[in-house]
Parts: sequence; C-alpha cells; structure tokens
Amino acid sequence: MTPPDDPNRVLIFDTTLRDGEQSPGISLNTQEKLEIAQQLGRLGVDVIEAGFPITSPGDFEAVQAIARTVQGPIIAGLARTHVGDIDAAYNAVKDAERPRIHTFISTSDIHIKYQLQSTREDVKGQARAAVAHAKQYLDDVEFSPMDATRADLEYTAEVCQIAIDEGATTINIPDTVGYTMPHEYTEFLTRLYAAVPDLRDIVLSVHCHDDLGLAVANSFAGLQAGARQVECAVNGIGERAGNASLEEIIMLLHTRQADVGLFTGANTREIARTSRMVSRLTGYVVQPNKAIVGRNAFAHESGIHQDGVLKERTTYEIMDATTVGLDANSIVLGKHSGRHALAQALAELGFELQGQALNTAFKRFKEIADKKKQVTALDLEALVTDELRQEIAGYTLEWFDVEASTRRPPHATVGVRGPDGEELVGSFTGDGPVDAIFHAINAATKVDARLREFRVDAVTGGQDALGETSVVLEFGGVTGAGQGVSTDILEAGARAYVRALSNAVRRHGLLAEQEAAAGADVPEVVRTP
Ligand code: KIV
Ligand code: ZN
Repeated sequence: MTPPDDPNRVLIFDTTLRDGEQSPGISLNTQEKLEIAQQLGRLGVDVIEAGFPITSPGDFEAVQAIARTVQGPIIAGLARTHVGDIDAAYNAVKDAERPRIHTFISTSDIHIKYQLQSTREDVKGQARAAVAHAKQYLDDVEFSPMDATRADLEYTAEVCQIAIDEGATTINIPDTVGYTMPHEYTEFLTRLYAAVPDLRDIVLSVHCHDDLGLAVANSFAGLQAGARQVECAVNGIGERAGNASLEEIIMLLHTRQADVGLFTGANTREIARTSRMVSRLTGYVVQPNKAIVGRNAFAHESGIHQDGVLKERTTYEIMDATTVGLDANSIVLGKHSGRHALAQALAELGFELQGQALNTAFKRFKEIADKKKQVTALDLEALVTDELRQEIAGYTLEWFDVEASTRRPPHATVGVRGPDGEELVGSFTGDGPVDAIFHAINAATKVDARLREFRVDAVTGGQDALGETSVVLEFGGVTGAGQGVSTDILEAGARAYVRALSNAVRRHGLLAEQEAAAGADVPEVVRTP
C-alpha cells in the first residue's frame, strides 16, 4: 500500500481477529468473526487482519468469508515465510476488494537460535523469498521482523531493506514481547529510518504488546518517530497481556489532535458498540476502569466531581461519552412489538437479520419481552450476539432441572444435545445450584472440565435486567470460554458453561490433529507471539 496522501493520516490496522483471537480461551466461529469484521468495517478501520489461514481449516474459512463479505478495509492474512503459509494466506484473502499478505520472520538472535534454530543468513534468504513469493500474488505485501525490538538494529535494517527491495509496501516493527520503552522505541525507529531511507516511501507500522503496560505509549512513540500504521486490538486483547488497545489509540489521536496533529479515519461513535461486541463474543470482560470503554470511564463518584460535571461537563471530562457512542439509545421495544419493529431496531444497531435468523431472534425477543417490560438497545444487542453463538459441531443445552435449598444439597439434572444430535442426560449433587448444574453438564457430556472463572453481570440496570454470564474452563490443558444471556442467571450460566466446554473440546481436538500431523511443530503452528 502506498502511504496515504495526507502525511498526518494514521492507518488503523486491527488485529483483534488474529493476535486478539490468540488469547487463551478465545475461540470464535466463522459467524462470530464475520460479525466482528462487519462491525470493524462500520468503525472505519483501515486494515482487518482476519486470521492466520494456514493454522486450521476453520481459520482459513473465516478469513475467506471475511474477504468475500466485508467491504471497505483491506483484508490481511498472516503467513510465516513458508511457501505453504503464503499460498494459504493468498487463497484466503484473494477475493477481497483490497487483499494483503502479511508475512513475518524473527530477526532477534534469541529467536533465530532457539526458536528457528537457524542463522542470520538463512533468515535473510527466507525473508527475501517470502516477500518475492507473496509479491507474485499481490501488490500489497506487509513484512514484519518479529521480536525486532530485541534484535540487532543493523541486522534488522538489512532484513527490512531486503523486504523493501522485493516489494514490501508496509514494514511493521513488532515489540513482540512488550519489552521496549517509549524513548527506546522512538530511537530504534529513528535509527532504522536513517539506516533504511527507502522506508520513507512505504508505510512504517508499529505493533506493540502490553507486557509492561506500555503498548499504547510505545505505539504513540512510534507514530511520533514517523510510523503511520498502528496495529492494535479492540479492548487490547492479544497474546499474554495483549496488544495496544485500539480504542485508546484512536481516542488519544482524536482528543489531542490539536497538539499532536495526527488523525485516523475511524468513526469514534462506533467504539463502545465494537468493544461490547468483542467482549461478549470473546468472553473477555472489560475491566470497569478501562480507559475509554470501561463502564466507569465516564462515571463520577466523588461529590466534588459530580458537582463540577453538572455545572460544566469539561471540568472533569476530557472526552464526551457520546463521542465514543455511549449516548442513551432511544430504542425501546415491548411485548407487543412485532417482527418488523424488531428488524428495524436491529438494523439501527447494525444487525441485518433476515429469514431464519430473524425468526430465531424474534422468538428469543418474545420470550424476554414476556418477562421484561421494556427491551432496550443494550438488551437487543446482548440477545442477538447470544444468538450468533450457534454451536458448530458442539454441545447445546436443551433443558435443566435444579433443586436449590438451604436444607438439602442442591441437585441438578441436565439435558444436552451432543455433536451428533443425541440427547445426553447427566445429574449431580453439588455445593450450590451453579456447581450442581456445571457438574451435571460434565456428567452428561463425559467431559471432565474444570471451572476456572465464572462471572455474572447485568446487561442493564433494574430488577428485571438480563443476566449475562461468562465462563472460562479447562479441559485437557486447553482453556475454553463461553457466554450466555438470559433473564434467569442459572440458565445463562448453563448456556455459558456448555459453550465454553464445546470450545475447549473443539480446541483440544484441533491440537491433537495438528500434533499428529506436525509432531513437535504444533505450538508454533497454532500460535504466534
Ligand atoms: O507480536 C508479533 O511479533 C506478531 C507478529 C506476527 C507481527 O504478532
Ligand atoms: Zn503480536
């Protein structure tokens, strides 16, 4: 990609669906990834890194579906320098309006020696061959020297020059292990520009991890050194401590534009909704005090602050909540609202449901409207995202009975539909009703999963609020996350547990298959830093 005409325009490269999806326990199906990608399109990101197509048929299929459906942003697929990876990335993205191949190889000695078990010379050859091969397919090729911030600068510069000579149009400098500091990163990039003057004719990109809590600060330092693409993820999800948080980068540049002079093409009013969607579908809860999208980010607790804000909002607020899309939505439906009103309300929220999907959403809506007087925009969002989590070759909760009492140990019996359509029934007497239901699900599925986290949140305020639950469990060394929404928190919990279990079982099976096919190579194939 050629640099944007305006030298102050910063490109937002979203890697929620690739680096973000590598977070432990996250396992999105194609439909969920598509929904997030569509929302990223509405948010106005410039590039969506949709996945790492070689890693599994599911990843390939999701990247391809996004490439074929999502209009606007560039759609990128990640690839190591192997021919097979690049071919898979190309095949997955080739139908996009604007496809990109992103290839990477490490330049730090520690990675070259221990992980790649190779030599600097060999890495140069691999980088050259990979970019040349990708370039046969596409004009838009990005190259990343992984672990660059811990690598020898002169050597990394040589590898970047090779990639540019072969036609790379974006060079991305990853702080793969979140080790660098802002002044160091600025210096690294400034020296890189001096060593590789050709960098000025292409896009320099930054990709920072948050191990020391510096991902956004480092990305900003990179922009000040001249980079014009930031790789980031919604809610800052990603490997280990995560990636630079997309919403923080966008709002930093937006809020301080007069001083910094840089800007993005993002529609900031879509930020809150994007954050909620990613949180729901990944099961990664946003911490209450998280900048920009935490539920307290615009709340004022102290009397002095409340008094100040009531008199003049800017006394204690540097951003207006409406700028990030946190304004009260006017949508309110009730039990007499029809299918047409629901479809319209959903369309306003960005969900274009038709046919069977609309019928299912309508059925769920009616069930909830019967129990709740008013169904708001936040309820609808939670409900539709819940419906999107259709189990693929997994388990589904059919029914449960639970006896809860302070005088007898709680007992639960559950009915779960298995992957082949069979009904599986299990019972358990537990320490509490939730414990009894979760163990009864284990008994029904014969999966010995261990609960790691269980959370309950209310979607909105009020006594009849929808409950939203989130479960993380572990099975055979693999974690799985799942969420559920219902007016009954036991039902929401049971749905979440069954989904988490299906995800863990699926991931476990995938790992076993890859292990059988690739021996010790597995962890490297399915995960990147
Ligand atoms: O952190 C990293 O180095 C990566 C690369 C694949 C860009 O995610
Ligand atoms: Zn990364």
